[in-house]
Amino acid sequence: MTTVLVLNGPNLNRLGTREPEKYGSETLSDLREQLEAQAPEGITIDLRQSNSEAELVGWLHDAVDARTPVILNPAAFTHYSIALRDAAAQVSSAGIELIEVHLTNPHTREDFRQVSYISGVATGIIAGFGFGSYRLALEQIAGR
Ligand code: DQA
Repeated sequence: MTTVLVLNGPNLNRLGTREPEKYGSETLSDLREQLEAQAPEGITIDLRQSNSEAELVGWLHDAVDARTPVILNPAAFTHYSIALRDAAAQVSSAGIELIEVHLTNPHTREDFRQVSYISGVATGIIAGFGFGSYRLALEQIAGR
């Protein structure tokens, strides 16, 4: 059994009601259900969300120690968290896949969203496909 850690940053617990015109009307529980249904046999989805940078950093440390591949939507931390970048770097530099995902395409949005502190240490990036971004990341990890 392989576990895939699906980490979600601040405000993503509000999916469903948060700016639905951008992020859609489905919730994080819907995402969990869909990923669990899409996961091929032998893959377990461990989906978590936190508004706390420290908690996300701790979960990335655990992923390194357990050698767990990570799908990471860093949300707003994408654009300013060096702590999260340094933690993500430990995952990818250990040879464990870490895929940065976004529901929206930040490059079509405000200037401050054009910078990602995570992309430079991610194995790959998928953005702009709503829940499909996570599904594509899962397919990539499952295919390896
Ligand atoms: C986001 C994009 C970020 O810019 C934003 O802060 C989020 C969500 C996305 O999934 O599109 O919270 O990561």
